[in-house]
Amino acid sequence: MDGFQQGFKHFATEAIHVGQEPEQWKSMAVVPPISLSTTFKQFGPGEHAGYDYSRSGNPTRNSMEKAVAALDGAKYCLSYASGLAATLNITHLLKCGDQIICTKDVYGGTNRYFRRVASEMGFKVAFVDCSDLKSLEAAITTDTKLVWIETPTNPTLTVIDIKGCADIVHKHKDIILAVDNTFLSAYFQRPLALGADICMYSATKYMNGHSDVVMGLVSVNCDKLYEKLKFLQNSLGAIPSPFDCYLCNRGLKTLHLRMQQHFQNALTVAKFLEADPRVDKVLYPGLPSHPQYELTKRQCTGVSGMITFYIKGTLEHAKTFLKSIKVFALAESLGGYESLAEHPAIMTHASVPEEERAALNISDTLIRLSVGLEDVEDLIEDLDQALGSAHPDIKNHN
Ligand SMILES: Cc1ncc(COP(=O)(O)O)c(C=O)c1O
Repeated sequence: MDGFQQGFKHFATEAIHVGQEPEQWKSMAVVPPISLSTTFKQFGPGEHAGYDYSRSGNPTRNSMEKAVAALDGAKYCLSYASGLAATLNITHLLKCGDQIICTKDVYGGTNRYFRRVASEMGFKVAFVDCSDLKSLEAAITTDTKLVWIETPTNPTLTVIDIKGCADIVHKHKDIILAVDNTFLSAYFQRPLALGADICMYSATKYMNGHSDVVMGLVSVNCDKLYEKLKFLQNSLGAIPSPFDCYLCNRGLKTLHLRMQQHFQNALTVAKFLEADPRVDKVLYPGLPSHPQYELTKRQCTGVSGMITFYIKGTLEHAKTFLKSIKVFALAESLGGYESLAEHPAIMTHASVPEEERAALNISDTLIRLSVGLEDVEDLIEDLDQALGSAHPDIKNHN
């Protein structure tokens, strides 16, 4: 679509079939059963059919993790009780005194965890603009052990060059590059193929896609890294429930279809907003006006439903807009089939210190949309009427 490279080969087939083989179940169930048992009968002490205790391993979870690994082009996937639990597990790969470099513009909860929890525990944390590769290179010290990027960033949709970061990070021994791939999903971006060591998701978003599961996912290729993470997954215990694994696994089966439609709808909405006199600026990596449009086309096969825009005026205009939307719901989160809108400065990024928000342009007029799968004409009509309520004095000639 619109000059983007073709999607990954066999993606839909793998989403539907990998890890789902009916032969793995005695019943030959085509849909993986929800395995609720917390414990598994052993043939003799320590002799079992692959499972002993559900925190350590669960058949429904295993089935989902295999599918995710295939979609990321990875050898392994591990799942967690939330995206932040995945971040916590990755951080536990480090020891106190190690330095974490986190890109400046990340999800507010990730910022809060690194700033207020990890740093309190003795990790050195530096927030650096990793979209500027020179700044990343300059920030690396002998203590650096983890570089954490999110691309596109939340909420300003800055695109970071994953391969560029990987080339810098891997000049140094023992530094892990982790990429939060939540905003694009495995369908549009494969960080491991671009040189990242870890691909991480809040599966709460696109990967599950139905706003009914909170979950985290991590994909890796390195055997050693996997062994360490597997040990931590069991030791820290923040695993997802079998029912959530069942739901997320089901969501994966339509990931390719959902993402294509999110992209199509969002591009139409972004073009509408960009031409609207009641809007100051639109940030959408799928638009040629986006500063990293060429990089986006190089490293992604498409763009998701996330759009950020600055409404003309003040906080009051933003609030009136958000109170007037009808098809879009005013709510946090993103990546579900339903359209959502939110105010990052007051909602998802309230935990980011005010001066930092200002430096990142997370202003009072910034609005974040998660464009869903409804009929796009209805979405545009809704945005048009809400912009009209915020700015009754400005005529839209769109
Ligand atoms: C980009 C990104 N990463 C991580 C998270 C944290 O994930 P969770 O809410 O599943 O813990 C979020 C949540 O909004 C997010 O948007």
